[in-house]
Amino acid sequence: MDYVRLDGEALTLVFALEEGGTADLIYAGPRLPESEDLAALAAAGARGRHESQPDVPPRPGLLPERKGGWSGRPAIRLLDRDNPLAGEVPTDFRVIDWDATKWDIRIGWHDERLGIDFNAWWRVTAGDVVRVSCNLVNHGERNFTLADHPALVLPIPRRFTGLTSFAGRWAGEMRETHRALAPEGFAARSGIGKSGFGGGNWMVLDDPASGEVLGAHLVWSGNYSTRIECDTQGQGDGRAVLQMAIGGGAAGFSLPAASALDAAEAVFALAPDRTALAQAFHAHLRARVLPSRATWGPRKVHLNSWEALGFNLSQDALIALAEDAASLGIERFVLDDGWFGGRRNDQTSLGDWTVSSDVFPNGLAPLIARVHQLGMDFGLWVEPEMVSPDSDLYRAQPDWCLHTEGRERPTMRGQLALDMARAEVRDYLFARLDALLREYPIAYLKWDHNRDLFPSAPGQTQGFYALIDALRAAHPQVEIESCSSGGGRIDFGVLNRTHRVWPSDNNDTIERLRIIPVWSQFLPLEVLGSHVGPSPNPITGRRLGIDFRAKVAMFGHMGVEADPARMSEKERATLVAHIALYKQWRGVLHHGALQRLAHPDPNVTAMMVAHEGKALALAAQTAFSPVFDAAPVRLAGLEPAARYRVSLPEPWPPRAKHYLANPDQWREGLVLSGSAVMTHGLALPLTHPETAWLIALEKLS
Ligand code: DGJ
Repeated sequence: MDYVRLDGEALTLVFALEEGGTADLIYAGPRLPESEDLAALAAAGARGRHESQPDVPPRPGLLPERKGGWSGRPAIRLLDRDNPLAGEVPTDFRVIDWDATKWDIRIGWHDERLGIDFNAWWRVTAGDVVRVSCNLVNHGERNFTLADHPALVLPIPRRFTGLTSFAGRWAGEMRETHRALAPEGFAARSGIGKSGFGGGNWMVLDDPASGEVLGAHLVWSGNYSTRIECDTQGQGDGRAVLQMAIGGGAAGFSLPAASALDAAEAVFALAPDRTALAQAFHAHLRARVLPSRATWGPRKVHLNSWEALGFNLSQDALIALAEDAASLGIERFVLDDGWFGGRRNDQTSLGDWTVSSDVFPNGLAPLIARVHQLGMDFGLWVEPEMVSPDSDLYRAQPDWCLHTEGRERPTMRGQLALDMARAEVRDYLFARLDALLREYPIAYLKWDHNRDLFPSAPGQTQGFYALIDALRAAHPQVEIESCSSGGGRIDFGVLNRTHRVWPSDNNDTIERLRIIPVWSQFLPLEVLGSHVGPSPNPITGRRLGIDFRAKVAMFGHMGVEADPARMSEKERATLVAHIALYKQWRGVLHHGALQRLAHPDPNVTAMMVAHEGKALALAAQTAFSPVFDAAPVRLAGLEPAARYRVSLPEPWPPRAKHYLANPDQWREGLVLSGSAVMTHGLALPLTHPETAWLIALEKLS
């Protein structure tokens, strides 16, 4: 047996590798001393055989297979395409080689009889996020179908016995559930052709004793399959196995003779707690996933036309909206759905990406000119991967959509999906979008995707990536948002090509106080579109004050998605003040380290971002507190011995401000040590529902 260790800044991974045998990850955790005896480490974790195991206990390790009596799901499930009725093809992969450096390793397996290679790459990146990817190469003569394409197989260290999983739906993304891992394990999949609202491509495991966590994510914008199988029958070595794979859907992946499948990738990170895990993922995204993140300027405040005007578009109404927007301090005006072809409602014209002459007799130029004159830049909504049956495109190319020959073509939101695997479809879309971007000075595209992909769509995600990559190469200055009826396509695959996501169509602040903290477990605030919505909210019907809506919207990439003309003077003034505050603080919010803050009242959500000696925190109460004096808000991540000026930026929440003791001192700022702020906390009036406070900190020494 050979042992290989990879070391990050605070992380060690130890692999046990046996040429002609198996490969295993025997340690994943805090960095081990250089002198650690890896054979002794393996011996300390080895188990003796017991009664319910096969005579040679199976070692699923990094490549679980059926052979040897392991009854869990194999990572590589093959069907012989020329003999599919024979069922799953038995495999016997053996380790043949590996190459390692201090921080990465490639492990190669080979199945002699099938002639297939399997390779796994493990890379510890700066910041200790581990990237794992796997590919398959068929050197043999048989044609196979692969069920799911593995990206990560992770034998879970035994100390992680808790699981936080995520599930969601439209307008209700990322609901967290915590449970003990064993015995049921976990399974989630997306079969709708996109990562979807299901949330099973994200997870957090935890060690209840220490609070240590392990977060994992599949880097892919299409179908996925996630499984954790516990060794309930004791066949293996007691560890559960996490498998994250690209889902093959009904058709699976074709792996004919003499072919290879591109590597599929997942990432995971270990951290002492969930705040540290969030910071690790944020650093990884900022450094290695988001396109040219280091060159981004300040995240401009948006006003999006959707909640204000919907499909009731006219040049005059849009210019009036843009003028209102500018008076609020908005920096980017985004024209949402309804500007093209005959698109006066959601049942028509997708695919006809030419400016509607009914709405814009002189094209978009007059509107864009006015937007520019008002000091804003211009953004445009598109939904390229879709086609309406009632469209010129569909009439000309009825077979460009996903369909089964001779069968009905069921729609969703009145639309069909284009087959992005076809080069002519991508060429058409590139030509239309490229023409728009050449003709008009468009700074930003809101790229929507409002339909599940059915019937099955092999090659769809790759086709989407190819189109967006080509457009970005031709128009590198254009920012892109990934929207999919809200958060239906959010993953590191899409974030590698876009500049922000639309976390949910649900703009209700109380819902956002759940949704944003969950997304920010993985994603930094600068990519999370966060808009002040209307009141009453169109989805929940809830009425909320502007102060509450605006304060919460500051924690993200702020925007407005409401009609300022329907606001009172007082509401507008409050909004203006918060937009100004956002501009003052976005440098901190979008570069800093996020702290997830705990509060004993479950209805209080608090978070904070610190950067270069400054910090801004939000404490928001959603319900009516059971006590008159809510527990003090305790901040985190400060230097205990440093002194900070702590103040409460105005405007203060109208309902709660009368309960504030020492308002003058809060206005001026109290000087306190980091220790005092983190342990003693700040007594803020948080008794009333729908109250939010901002807390500003400046380090003095
Ligand atoms: C769904 C998006 O999530 C909304 O924000 C809006 O852009 C509509 N589509 C437009 O059709």
